[in-house]
Amino acid sequence: MAIEHTFSILKPDATRRNLTGAVNAVIEEAGLRVVAQKRIHLTKAQAEFFYGIHRERPFFGELVGTMTAEPVVVQVLAGENAVAKYREIMGATNPANADEGTIRKRFALSVGENTAHGSDSLDNAKLEIAQFFSGNEIVG
Ligand code: CMP
Repeated sequence: MAIEHTFSILKPDATRRNLTGAVNAVIEEAGLRVVAQKRIHLTKAQAEFFYGIHRERPFFGELVGTMTAEPVVVQVLAGENAVAKYREIMGATNPANADEGTIRKRFALSVGENTAHGSDSLDNAKLEIAQFFSGNEIVG
């Protein structure tokens, strides 16, 4: 199977609680490799663009507010079937519905503070990675 790249955000609830290493340990134990990573403070414009598909949803303002309140860690993860693999180990968006052992079951506080974002398709992974990383920042 081909090696894929997927895009990840360790969200403000993870940085605030000093959990980025704990989440990275789950990622690495699952066989995914962190091939790019940086800690940034998202601007409102960056968050609104990134989550543009949700612009009409009732939670959009809250989502942008939460994502810009404190720093995040943006990442590129590499591995076989990385897009689906990362979604599997993150668990369901709402931690109340997430399987035991998943990142969101273990660490998330709520659907809005759900610790991690991962791309939902290979096409979106490419777009999301391109918003935050240039090619020479990704070192496999
Ligand atoms: P994420 O995978 O980053 O993609 C969109 C985000 O919107 C999602 O994780 C949740 O954190 C957030 N979200 C989805 N549904 C709700 C909701 N009902 N209320 C608040 N935030 C939500």
